Amino acid sequence: MFWNGKKRNHTQKADRSLSPKDGNGQDCRDGSGSGQATLPPKEAMPRHIAFIMDGNGRWAKKRGLPREYGHKEGAAVIRRLTEYCGSIGINTVTVYAFSTENWKRPEREISAIMKLLRDYLNDALREMEKNRIRFCFLGDRSRFDGETRRLMQEAEERSVGYTLRLNLAINYGGRDEIVHAVNACLREGITEISEDDISRHLYTKDSPEPDLIVRTGGEQRLSNFLLWQSEYAELYFSPILWPDFSERDVDAAVADFCRRNRRYGAVDVQDGAKADS
Ligand code: FPP
Repeated sequence: MFWNGKKRNHTQKADRSLSPKDGNGQDCRDGSGSGQATLPPKEAMPRHIAFIMDGNGRWAKKRGLPREYGHKEGAAVIRRLTEYCGSIGINTVTVYAFSTENWKRPEREISAIMKLLRDYLNDALREMEKNRIRFCFLGDRSRFDGETRRLMQEAEERSVGYTLRLNLAINYGGRDEIVHAVNACLREGITEISEDDISRHLYTKDSPEPDLIVRTGGEQRLSNFLLWQSEYAELYFSPILWPDFSERDVDAAVADFCRRNRRYGAVDVQDGAKADS
């Protein structure tokens, strides 16, 4: 859509005919009416975008369907939007697929999500050479059955050389991750734990921190997602239910991100210069 930067060389499935809209439905291009996009400079783009995919249950309910149908549709959206993010120059996508708290859901819904995960991985393994997506999993795998763990491992091993990375957070909790990292440090005999020690033991240890966290479905909270890594992430909340979230909505989130001023606790360079003079 609005970003013509790095293109992936396989078939582009994303609909490129839509114009980019910001959160208010405004066209976020140059406004000249020429239809020629003013592209955000590559360095302004998020490198890593993370999604809290909320709203599947409500999406299904609105259609008189069981909640599982919302998750099924939601899984299809992961496929489409990961590819789209890759096509606009984002190289890491993280999705919150199942939290450590989601085990409290009805057994039927949990089984449906676990089956979706296995189906997703089987499809990914079949289409790996075509899609060229690197799979990584964030979370504690010990609770999954042997078959699911085997599929996760195979997907990680076979995709390790690809650059567009999809982190699937599954049985993931931000607090659980930090506790896990601290315990790993203690096992190494570290007595004075530093931030770097924690970071290198997180599930995301070899992934950049998220630049942008998008939550769909109207709620405005992190729900135990990437608590450590979200330190300076920009947050974007959308009322759209995840199964309806589209390429156009990714554009709106990215356009909003590109307008933010990220200071990381410092001051703008020109303000610093004024204060010094
Ligand atoms: C939150 O929406 C969504 C989840 C807890 C599960 C998300 C899972 C998927 C999109 C599919 C899983 C896919 C793979 C590949 C494992 P909600 O159901 O709580 O929405 P609600 O607030 O409308 O009830």
